[in-house]
Amino acid sequence: MAKGERGDVLNLLTKQRKRLDDYTMREMFALDPNRFQRFSATGADILLDYSKNRIDEDAMDALFELARAAGVEDRRSQMCEGEHINITEDRAVMHMALRYQGDKPVEVDGKDVMPDVRAVLAAIETYTNAVRSGEIRGQGGAQFTDVVNIGIGGSDLGPAMVTLALEPYTRADLRAHYVSNVDGAHIHDVLKRLDPKKTLFIVASKTFTTDETMTNANSARDWISDTLGEEAVPNHFAAVSTNLEACAKFGIRQDRIFGFWDWVGGRYSVWSAIGLPIALAVGYDNFAKFLAGADAMDRHFLETPLERNLPVIMALIGVWYRNAWGFSTHAVLPYDQRLSRFAAYLQQQDMESNGKSVTLDGKKVDWPTGPIVWGEPGTNGQHAFYQLIHQGTDVIPCDFLIAARPHENLPPHHDKLVANVLAQSEALMLGKTKDEVVAELKAQGLDKDQIKALAPHKVFPGNRPSNTLFYKQLTPEVLGSLIALYEHKVFVQGVIWNVNSYDQWGVELGKQLAKALLPKVKGEESGEGHDASTQGLLGYYLANKA
Ligand code: F6P
Repeated sequence: MAKGERGDVLNLLTKQRKRLDDYTMREMFALDPNRFQRFSATGADILLDYSKNRIDEDAMDALFELARAAGVEDRRSQMCEGEHINITEDRAVMHMALRYQGDKPVEVDGKDVMPDVRAVLAAIETYTNAVRSGEIRGQGGAQFTDVVNIGIGGSDLGPAMVTLALEPYTRADLRAHYVSNVDGAHIHDVLKRLDPKKTLFIVASKTFTTDETMTNANSARDWISDTLGEEAVPNHFAAVSTNLEACAKFGIRQDRIFGFWDWVGGRYSVWSAIGLPIALAVGYDNFAKFLAGADAMDRHFLETPLERNLPVIMALIGVWYRNAWGFSTHAVLPYDQRLSRFAAYLQQQDMESNGKSVTLDGKKVDWPTGPIVWGEPGTNGQHAFYQLIHQGTDVIPCDFLIAARPHENLPPHHDKLVANVLAQSEALMLGKTKDEVVAELKAQGLDKDQIKALAPHKVFPGNRPSNTLFYKQLTPEVLGSLIALYEHKVFVQGVIWNVNSYDQWGVELGKQLAKALLPKVKGEESGEGHDASTQGLLGYYLANKA
C-alpha cells in the first residue's frame, strides 16, 4: 500500500469513528445481549474480551480491511521466511525460532538455525542443572545461593520481569537479582547483602559493549577479585552475548559463554540465552514450558484468521484509538502482583519498536504511531492514578489482565481481586450519569442545593475503553503466551504504521553525547562549546562534587 493510500485508509477510520461518536458502549451493550460473544476470542488458552471498546461490526470490518490492505499477512510470512525486514540494520527478525517446538527447518540466510538454537538450549540446560544441583560451585567450593544478572534494556527487563512473575516456581535457596543502572547505587545495594563466595554473575549483553553493563560487570569482577582473588573470576562469571570474542576477553570461560544471533532483537531476546537467569531461577523444565507457551501463541498468530486472531485484534484496536480517536497513551493494568514489571517490560517492547516517525522508505509519517505505554498492578493503581482514568480529560484505553486461579490458598484475596478488575472495566464502560448521581444523592437524604453542588463531581463520563485478558493461572506457559501476544501486536501495528519496529536509532544520540561529556564531567576537558544550560549544569556539578 502506497503512502497516500495508507493515509487514505487511516482516514476511513475517522469516518467510522464519527459514526460511532453518537453511540455509547452502554447503549451498545443494552442493544446487543450477545456483545461479549461477538467481541471476544481465545488463543493459546487466553481469553480476550474486547467488547468494552468503542467498536461495532462495521468498525471492526474496516480495521480488518486496513490490516489486509497494509499487507499484515504478507509481512508476517516475510518475517517467518527470514527476510531482512529490519531494513536499517539489514537483519532478519526471527525470535520465533528461539521457541519453535516443531521439527521443520527454520532458515535464515539459507541456513537452518534450529540446530544452533537447540545446541544453546542444551548448553543452558546442562549448566542450569549443574548450578542448581551444586555440581558447579564457587571458588572455595560453596554452592551458589545468589545469581546476579548484569544487563540493561532487553538484556534485563525480560528476565527480571519473568523471574518476578514466576516466583511460585523459584527455590528459596537460589535467588535471582538484576543490576542494570549505571548508577553505582544499584550494584552497591544488591551486593551489600550477598556473599561473594556464593554469588554467580551473568553478564548479559547482546553487543557486550553497552557502557552501563560493562561498567557494572567490571565492578562485579573487582568485587570478586578483591574478596576471593583474581583466580576466582572464571568460577563466578558466565556471559550471554552475540559477541563471543568480547566475552572471552573479559575473562569468561568458553564453556560458560552462551551465544545468540543478530537476528534476535534485544527486546525480543528473553527467549534466547538471555533467559539464562530465568532457567537458573525456575529450573530448565519451566523455562522450556515458557518457550512452549510462546510457541503456542505463535501458532495462533500464524494460523488463525485475522478476525479471530488475538494479537491482530489488539493491534487493530490500538490503531483505532491512536489514529481515529487520537488517544496517545495505553495503560497495561495486570491484576496480578507478580506482573508488577510487565508494563515496564512492554514499554521497551512497544515504545522502542514503534516509537518511530519515519516510514520504511525514509519519509516522515503522516499519522500518529506508537502510544505511550504505562501501568502498574491493580488494585494498587486504583488508589493512585485511576481517578484520572475514570474522570480525567484524557481517554486512556486499558488492558486488564487477570488469572482465574491464584497460586496461593488464600480464597478471599483472589475473589476480591477478580471483583475489582471486573468492577473497573464495568465502571469505565458504564460510567455514572447525572440522573443516576442525583437519584443516589436523593436517596442519601441530601437537599436540592447540596445535590446541585455535589452532582457534577460525582458524574462519571463512562464510554471509556478496555480489553480484559483472562487466563487460567500465571504458569510459565501462560506467561510465554502473554508476552508473545504483545510482541505480535507490536509487529502488526508496525506494519500498519509502515515503520521499522526492529531498530532503535533513537537511543543513539544520548549515548554519543554522554561519551563526549564524560571527560568534561570528570573535569579533564573544558565544557566550552556546549549550550548554556549544559554548561551551567556542568558548572554546578563540578563545584559541588565531593
Ligand atoms: O537501549 C538500546 C539497546 O540497544 C536495547 O535495544 C538493548 O536491549 C539494550 O540497549 C542493551 O543492549 P545490549 O544487550 O547490547 O547490552
